[in-house]
Amino acid sequence: MSDAATVFSRLIGRGASRAETVGAWLRLAEKLYAQAGAGLGQVSASAHDEALYLLLRTLELPLDSDARVLKKKLTAAQRTNVAAVFRRRLVERVPAAYLTREAWLGEDRFYVDERVIIPRSYFLEIIPEQLDDWLPAAKQVTHVVDVCTGSGCLAILLAKHFPKARVDAVDLSNAALEVAAINVKSHRLGRRVALHCSDVFDRVPAAKYDVILSNPPYEPSAHCDALPLEFQREPRLALDGGADGLDIIRKLLRQARTRLQPHGIVLIEVGGLRAVMDREFTALEPHWLQTHDGSDCVCVINAARLKRWRG
Ligand SMILES: C[S@@+](CC[C@H](N)C(=O)[O-])C[C@H]1O[C@@H](n2cnc3c(N)ncnc32)[C@H](O)[C@@H]1O
Repeated sequence: MSDAATVFSRLIGRGASRAETVGAWLRLAEKLYAQAGAGLGQVSASAHDEALYLLLRTLELPLDSDARVLKKKLTAAQRTNVAAVFRRRLVERVPAAYLTREAWLGEDRFYVDERVIIPRSYFLEIIPEQLDDWLPAAKQVTHVVDVCTGSGCLAILLAKHFPKARVDAVDLSNAALEVAAINVKSHRLGRRVALHCSDVFDRVPAAKYDVILSNPPYEPSAHCDALPLEFQREPRLALDGGADGLDIIRKLLRQARTRLQPHGIVLIEVGGLRAVMDREFTALEPHWLQTHDGSDCVCVINAARLKRWRG
């Protein structure tokens, strides 16, 4: 352990011996998050919310506990456990979701571990609120695909949104697909969600889809090395989109030309790449979807434009 980590670790131990209630621990944890410069955004953008989540999970208290829980006193053994969890989170920089082995997208819980990126996608709001607007009302959606599925979370959300559809879930990482298999099973969707190990569509059996959806790796390679330590603990394959971030997106769009129904659409989440996308794929006229926080991170491209595209 580095000197700084040892000092910080002692700080947690000292504070822990004084923090007797959940509320006192929460206040202490918030200070420690700030002092440690902890990277946020994997579980929550707020240190308060993430620390409270970790406290409740470690103490095996309900996540929907009301404010009275803050007054709850901890036993000595509980204080030791909580200190150990925050040491792993703030000294070792292990993401909270890897400590609890779970991630939440809305009401849905997914198993996660170091084999997959922690789910945090705008598709959580786009699938229920906007996706249907882009599909012909009369057409029943029968076949959709989630390319770059990771934990399988978006394939599962798609299967729930389109209860009559078959869903293909594709990833290049066998390790990620092992996690996706756990989630498909726990959500009881084994009959409708099929997992494929493939570099984009290379090894996916021929099929034409109503919807191709993807949250691919899109960080330019140089950005990956500068990410906060917590994010660097996620699989590099899940983040690194090549020199300009577009490696997987280029391949996906080229292959999507022969994989869409005539009324079909492609939806791609691209992080901060809107301007780069608009420049590179001008002919495809990507339409950018508005999200609650106003970010333009997800675009829709329709089959007709893709078919005409000579890219
Ligand atoms: C940003 S993660 C998205 C995971 C999941 N869809 C989500 O939203 O949480 C990207 C995923 O793409 C996978 N991946 C990377 N390169 C790929 C490729 N060439 N073909 C298919 N999957 C790939 C990674 O293994 C990773 O699981």
